[in-house]
Amino acid sequence: MRYHILTYGCQMNVHDSETLAGILENTGYEPTGRPEEADFILLNTCAVRQTAEERILGRLGELKRFKYERPGIIIGVCGCVPQQKGAAERIMQRAPHVDLIFGTHNLHRLPELLARAGKGQRVIEVVEGAGRAEGLPMRRQGGHAAWVNITYGCDNFCSYCIVPYVRGRERSRPPEAVLEEVQQLAREGYLEITLLGQNVNSYGRDLRGSVTFAGLLRQLDAIPGLERLRYMTSHPRDFTDELIEVIAGSSKVCEHFHLPLQAGSDRILRAMNRGYTQEHYLGLIEKIRRAVPGASLTTDIIVGFPGETEEDFLETMRVVDQLRYDAAFTFMYSPRGGTPAAARPDQIAAEVKKERLARLMRRQNEISREINKHLVGTRAEVLVEGESATDPAMYTGRTRTNKPVLFPACPDLSGSLQSIRITEARTFTLYGVVHD
Ligand code: 5AD
Ligand code: SF4
Repeated sequence: MRYHILTYGCQMNVHDSETLAGILENTGYEPTGRPEEADFILLNTCAVRQTAEERILGRLGELKRFKYERPGIIIGVCGCVPQQKGAAERIMQRAPHVDLIFGTHNLHRLPELLARAGKGQRVIEVVEGAGRAEGLPMRRQGGHAAWVNITYGCDNFCSYCIVPYVRGRERSRPPEAVLEEVQQLAREGYLEITLLGQNVNSYGRDLRGSVTFAGLLRQLDAIPGLERLRYMTSHPRDFTDELIEVIAGSSKVCEHFHLPLQAGSDRILRAMNRGYTQEHYLGLIEKIRRAVPGASLTTDIIVGFPGETEEDFLETMRVVDQLRYDAAFTFMYSPRGGTPAAARPDQIAAEVKKERLARLMRRQNEISREINKHLVGTRAEVLVEGESATDPAMYTGRTRTNKPVLFPACPDLSGSLQSIRITEARTFTLYGVVHD
């Protein structure tokens, strides 16, 4: 029996898919990269924006023919989309070829649900609240870099965001469980670990304050064998001085800060329930840059939040111009049912959102290009991931600042740290040669 998982959305989902793959392989399934060969096709879905949801429904439509060609196959949908109220029933209605739907809290139930679907039942199991998360098998995709959950869920309730509704309240994993997992990965030869949480900076808040994210990082930094530590995502409100100090003093924590700005205007930040002002954000970046020279800085920005005026938007542009991000993930605001912002009457017209997004991206791309051009002629440490997916003659890896680098390699240097001399820079990618 073979399975094929299609994953949408964030690293959290990508990592959940590693757990789903592990569970399936434990029950005797083997992976296949070709959906047409699979006995079980599973879509692990994202609900963060409407466009993500539409892509999933489109993909589901394409899978219909597999079901007609081979009626025995099972098609499943899991993740954040069915976790929304009423969504599972809607999917079952709109896509009669779907056999199995479950949510984000009951991955461990997959073998039983799959067995029921195998008997011809249409199965929906979406539950609320924390499910079993410890001790599940896992089939990791990367050989040298691994993801490790530190928190699940989110308590921030940013007014635009669906995550607290589909991932539940914030739960921190016990520090011992995180330490043990990272130690084991280091023993297995993993060089890079990325700690995952919707807001890693609030790690430990629900553990009676016995441990902070800074304290956890300090402990992980001492694990022998590990070369690089990363974490995502940070919240600018909760990024403490202690954390900056730990990162600055660590040799493993990478010199890359991803700090979602979301908006530059204080009025919009307040309406988003972000809990910080532009001034706080700028001050935080100043502290970080002073403590970690040469650090790269990336962000997430939403344009066209309800009520956003041209002046508000220009505040976002001002911050972008002033801080000069290495890269930014930019989005048009997308109303999500059940969130406070979606109910506001002052929604922004699609053309206005599009125009603002285009203006922002144009400016950011210029800045990214300028920053990367300055790196030509310098050397960077790259963790080699393997052959490039787009150009098999090239190898790909990332710098500590998290920039993708392409370079010709012979022989295969996958899984090693290489000093690469940067010879060319584009907006999103650097090119180089192995330094001799
Ligand atoms: N509309 C547009 N973008 C959103 N994001 C989260 N919710 C929405 C929404 N409703 C963006 C935020 C977040 C990133 C993962 O997705 O910028 O940081
Ligand atoms: Fe998408 Fe958010 Fe779910 Fe991640 S947690 S998959 S971004 S909805």
